Amino acid sequence: MSDIRLDKFLADAGAGTRSEVKIKIKKGQVTVNGEAAGKSDIKINPDIDEVCLDGKKLIYNEFEYFMLNKPQGVVSATKDDKDKTVIELITEAKRRDLFPVGRLDKDTEGLLIITNDGKLSNNLLAPGKHVDKTYFAIIAGEVTDDTVLRFTEGIDIGDDKPTAPAKLRILYDDKDEILDVDSDATNNNSGNVNNIMGDDIIKSNVEITITEGRYHQIKRMFEAVGMKVTYLKRLSMGSLSLDDSLKPGEYRRLTDEEIRLLAGDF
Ligand code: URA
Repeated sequence: MSDIRLDKFLADAGAGTRSEVKIKIKKGQVTVNGEAAGKSDIKINPDIDEVCLDGKKLIYNEFEYFMLNKPQGVVSATKDDKDKTVIELITEAKRRDLFPVGRLDKDTEGLLIITNDGKLSNNLLAPGKHVDKTYFAIIAGEVTDDTVLRFTEGIDIGDDKPTAPAKLRILYDDKDEILDVDSDATNNNSGNVNNIMGDDIIKSNVEITITEGRYHQIKRMFEAVGMKVTYLKRLSMGSLSLDDSLKPGEYRRLTDEEIRLLAGDF
């Protein structure tokens, strides 16, 4: 790692904002290799130098990586005037420059990677890299083998070009189950039923894998074939699968192995 300023090191290590850490340095709370650091702009090599705040050694992470099970009602953004953001859920973060890798809709749940590694994010999201994203979805409508075929051919969702082929798998266990949307659906699966009202309708449970990340892509694909997504949860992105011990709103750090595998996905 190359040299960085002491105040940046401290801020990146979660010791406070840049101005807060400057005050701590001035007050003599910070030592570098055992000596009180008088100045904020001295250069530190994070691999070699030992920096302590109030006698406690600080660990510097150039990058942080978290797997979040995004809950509904939270937006995939770093800041929002109205809604809680996914970043606010990562309470153990040290870095202040974290962002979500791509977006899930406000009412979508599931796997979201949160990091400050722009290179990894760009690679995972780059259209040319075709990283698989797999979702579980509950569909108001009867998904048939014909729908599966249409999805493999790409769907016209009103953009310049049809979507790339998508893999759709019908989960037959629940096929033909009648969904009384007003009552049953909310009990069934965390309940984002999206205002479908009216008569009983057929519900299909599916798994869908797409390689692009267009705006509302899965909802628009089903709308284009006359159906509605009533629940959507991302299960995996490239080699990374959602840890099923994480409840909506919970997160954990990625392991070194998971980070290594993700980097091999593009
Ligand atoms: N497709 C959608 O329609 N919504 C999401 O959140 C993700 C994929």
